[in-house]
This record gives sequence, C-alpha cells and structure tokens, in this order.
Amino acid sequence: MKKICSLTFFLLVFISVKGQNLNEHWRPDFHFSPEKNWTNDPNGLIFLDGEYHLFYQFNPFENKWGHMSWGHAVSKDLIKWEHLPVAIPEDSVWIFSGSTVIDKNNSSGLDNGNGNCMVAIYTADYHNGKKEAQYLAYSNDKGRTWEKYAGNPVLDLNAKDFRDPNVFWHEKTKQWIMSVVLPTEYKVLFYGSPNLKNWNKLEEFGNQGDVRKIWECPSLTQFAVDGDSTKTKWLLMVSSNGPEQDFAGVQYFIGDFDGKSFKNDNTPDTKLYVDYGKDFYASIPWNNATQNQKLMLGWMLNWKYAENQPTFPWKGQMSVPRQIALKTFPEGVRLTQLPVEQFTPADSYRFFEKKDFVHTKEKLLNGSTLFAKNAYIIEADLTIKSSRDFGFKIAQNLNKEGKATQETIVGYDVKKQQLYLDRTNSGKIISPDFASVDKTFLKIDNKRLRLKIVVDKMSVEVFANDGAVAITSLIFPDPKATAFSLFCKKGKIKVNSLKIWDLSKK
Ligand code: FRU
Repeated sequence: MKKICSLTFFLLVFISVKGQNLNEHWRPDFHFSPEKNWTNDPNGLIFLDGEYHLFYQFNPFENKWGHMSWGHAVSKDLIKWEHLPVAIPEDSVWIFSGSTVIDKNNSSGLDNGNGNCMVAIYTADYHNGKKEAQYLAYSNDKGRTWEKYAGNPVLDLNAKDFRDPNVFWHEKTKQWIMSVVLPTEYKVLFYGSPNLKNWNKLEEFGNQGDVRKIWECPSLTQFAVDGDSTKTKWLLMVSSNGPEQDFAGVQYFIGDFDGKSFKNDNTPDTKLYVDYGKDFYASIPWNNATQNQKLMLGWMLNWKYAENQPTFPWKGQMSVPRQIALKTFPEGVRLTQLPVEQFTPADSYRFFEKKDFVHTKEKLLNGSTLFAKNAYIIEADLTIKSSRDFGFKIAQNLNKEGKATQETIVGYDVKKQQLYLDRTNSGKIISPDFASVDKTFLKIDNKRLRLKIVVDKMSVEVFANDGAVAITSLIFPDPKATAFSLFCKKGKIKVNSLKIWDLSKK
C-alpha cells in the first residue's frame, strides 16, 4: 500500500512538473528572470567596478511570494546576467525591499580596509504583521558575502507599515539621505544620516498625486534637466496606483530638494505616471552608475494577478534596464525613458533595415521570418499620410489563410491621439481583468511617430517619441505565435525608417 501511495505521489509530481515545464517557452531571452522561484521588486541596484548588481525580492524555496530574501545577479552589459547565491537570506525577519550604497569614506565604520564597502539598507518585516523597521547589512567583497549589522534596527518607529528605504549620498549637505514610506498614510519620510547608522528625521511629503492605493518603493534622484547642469530638478518616484483604477503602477513628482524637504513643482492633484501599461512596478534607480548615467529597472508584473503568472519554474521578471532623463515639454518638466543603448548597437545582433517606403493596409514584414523568436527590438520612424490607425501587430498566430487567430497590437489612434497596446487577443488570459487595451494620450508633432518596441517572449515594452511615454504589458502567446506585421487602417503611412534587432538566444 505504502509503495502504491508513493508511486502515485511520484507520478502526480512528475505529471505536474512536466506540465509546468512546458511554460519555459515564455522564459525571457534578454530580460532578467530568476533561474527558479518567485521574484518581485528589484532591490539595491548598484554599479561597482564594472559590474551592475541586481538584488531582488526572492523566495528561495517556492514559486510564490514568501520567505522574502534578497536574490542576487550581476551583469557587465545589462543584457546577460550571471546568477549568484542568495545575498541576504531571511532569518527571524523577512528581508523586504531597499537599496545599497558604496560607503567610499567608511562613514559607517563597516569597511574592512577595501574602500568600497557595499551597505544594504532594507526593511526587516517581522512577518507577524506587527512591525517593519530599517536594517543594515554589509559586504566587503563586492556583494558576494554579507554580514547583518549587529546594531539593527537602525530606524524603528514601531510601525506596522514602514518600508522600502532608498538611500543616496547628498553632496551639498554632506549626508546620506533616505526616502522611506508610511504606505497607508501615503507619505514619504526623508531622513538624514552622517554614518548610515543614526538617522534624523528631516521632512515628509505626501497626500498628493495618486492616493488610491498604498505608497511603496520611493526614490529621489537629481537630474540636469535637458542635460543642462545649471537647471537641476529632482524626480521622486513612488509605486502606488497606476493610471488604471485598482491596478498598481508607478507615479512620479518633479520638484526641488534642498537636503531637507521636497517641494512639488506641480499642483497637489497633478498625477504623473511612469508607465501606462499594467506590468511595471517598484522601479528604482541604479546608484553609482557610470558617466552620470541615470538608469532604472522595474518589476514586470502586477500584484493584481501576479500569482497567476503561468510560468514554471520561475515567476516574475524585470523590465528592460531604462535610461531615464528629465526633459522640458510645453506642460512642464517630465520624465523620459528608453531602453539602454547597448540593446540596439549599429553593428551587432542580427539586424534588418528598410527605409523610405509607403505602407498601406496590413502586411507581414519582409524580415519577419528572420525574427521569428519573439525576442527583438523594433525601432520605427513613421509619418502619417492619411491613416487613422496604424502600428505593429506582434506575436501573431496565423492560420492557413494567413489570418491572425492571436496577436498583440501596438498602435496609434490618430483621432484620439492615443498610443495603445491591445492584448485582448494576445494568448493565454491569466485573470478576468488581464484582457485589456492599455493606452495613453500622446500628441505628436509634424505627424511623426517614433516607436521603440521591445519584445521578449512574454512581454512587450513600448516607448514613443524618444521615451516621452511608455507602455509595458505581459502577454502569454502560443509558442507558434511569432509573426509580425505593419498595419495601417485606411490611408497610408510613410515609413521613414524601420530597424529590427534580433536579441533571441541562439
Ligand atoms: C512592493 C512591496 C514592497 C515590499 C516588498 C515585499 O512590491 O510590497 O513594499 O518591501 O514588496 O516583497
């Protein structure tokens, strides 16, 4: 009897694991995903000695949220990631989101003489629902091994919800600055410290912008607006409600920060969103990046249906690393974002280019068979001649007659001045509210639309007009759905240039 039971158990496990394995075809080729098990937020993004470090919320044991620890990976180019062992494991507390800094001058006294001590500032969640407090851990070997600081916590309000510290060095006031949230009060608190261990409250900012959902994962970053170092502004990002009611997303504020308080440039009711898709959350900037590069990364999923992501043996992945900037628009200073340049070099990857042609109706792209792996980047510069609705249809499943039975549409509706991503027929619908058309207003000048579309098996990220707007959405197409077309409903468009880079794993 015992033998039969264990055989049945073995068969059940075997069948279910086998069934789940079929989902490897959705594994991203050039976006980060853990080898196995669950991830959510990116944590502690930092650059040190030629390596980009990505720490991330990780469950080392299961393919669902829990046992939160910091996973770890490094990359030299932000494209290929090397998986490293868990950096900061759970113990009596769970290791929630946070940031890392390089304590060059050993202000904390935690450096053992290297001059590049990496200090992680994270939230310890007491997983009894009673308390969250801020902790330190440190590494003297470039993030390979970590010690938890013996004097933890370094900041404790005895609050149930108090999390996601993001820290940077503020040169002007010569102190570390931490942004951290009281999620249910819709508040970011700012603290200052000379040594990362003792923190003094400076000011707080909150109850502005979007307050439909709790606030999480704040970050504060200074920018030279339009690249002009005499015009500086600060970007305050906060994960909260996104543009769509009930769906988490990331909002931002633009303003000034004097080392103590943040002043919003816009009216308190102005709502600015980082991304108009449903699958971009918990984004934070990279500390210490080279050549004044400003980079960020977000988690590509939405809490609303995250547990339903039908992938095994992993669940959760990061967005493409994005180069971010602040630019002046008629409505004010706004955030722009584009995939980092190394994804689209002129001279590598399999590449396709076509210039100056007029397009009508719907056509499979000539190069389409070259890129039939759903892992590519399209860059298009289009001029509207008379069309009312045009764009790309990707991850198409074509039947014998050449008709699409499945597709994701990235288009521009000329009359409504709307950029949209339609995933209503994109493949597996993983929850009742997954089938949606995500959209944003986009005014275009000179009838010209420039698009960058990043496709990687189970995700589509759209950037329009040099990153003025972004839409990020997951899709779960059939493995055979790899065709793509350029479409144009009524009238014509002129294709000034069309470039495609194949980023699929060979
Ligand atoms: C955001 C978040 C953070 C928290 C972490 C826990 O997605 O809820 O506020 O630190 O995830 O995994």
